[in-house]
Amino acid sequence: MSQAEMKQVVEEILIDEATLRRRVEELGEEISGDYEGRDLLLVGVLKGAVFFMADLMRQISVACEIDFMAISSYGAASDSSGVVRILKDLDINIKDRHVLILEDIIDSGLTLSYLMRNLGAREPASLEVCALLVKHGRRETDVPVKYVGFEIPNRYVIGYGLDFAERYRNLPHVAVMRTVGPGQAGPYLHQGGTCGSPLRPPPL
Ligand code: IMP
Ligand code: MG
Repeated sequence: MSQAEMKQVVEEILIDEATLRRRVEELGEEISGDYEGRDLLLVGVLKGAVFFMADLMRQISVACEIDFMAISSYGAASDSSGVVRILKDLDINIKDRHVLILEDIIDSGLTLSYLMRNLGAREPASLEVCALLVKHGRRETDVPVKYVGFEIPNRYVIGYGLDFAERYRNLPHVAVMRTVGPGQAGPYLHQGGTCGSPLRPPPL
């Protein structure tokens, strides 16, 4: 992305590359200690968690495998049912496996709550969650998140895997996305899930 484009899209860098790297190292160390002697299966939630997952896995020293799930919210973001649709299911049978779900960001927590119920029903030996980001004060469900990278304010963020209408995942840092004008929410600024969003990225 050009410097000019980045300036137009990024309001503020919230977490820079070095800080991300340090925290991912710490998480890797913590997870390696906790899962010593156990076979770990990392389940990445597509697509946002892929970047975090690739970096985190290389900081984990216990034997581990990876698999992926892709999900999409049903209906509007304001729908509190938490019902999501599975677009891609796991390839691996998780019965009796130690499963760690990797998420990019937890906002309301409804997506995660559904995933926990769905994967929990498959009888894994253990099921925990690691989220790179958790939005402060936004969680509507009390799904326990064992590993949290950073707590962030309730702003729309992009980069390091996080998208707006499928763009900006390639930013090396986590940044607050700029809205149309000062104090004014742009027509493209949305809340909640990104899948199947008819919204377009901001005009450049
Ligand atoms: P939840 O079900 O409300 O917790 O929504 C979680 C999902 O919404 C995440 O996996 C993201 O795909 C998306 N999401 C929520 N907040 C943001 C954000 O600030 N930037 C990018 N995606 C977000
Ligand atoms: Mg997501």
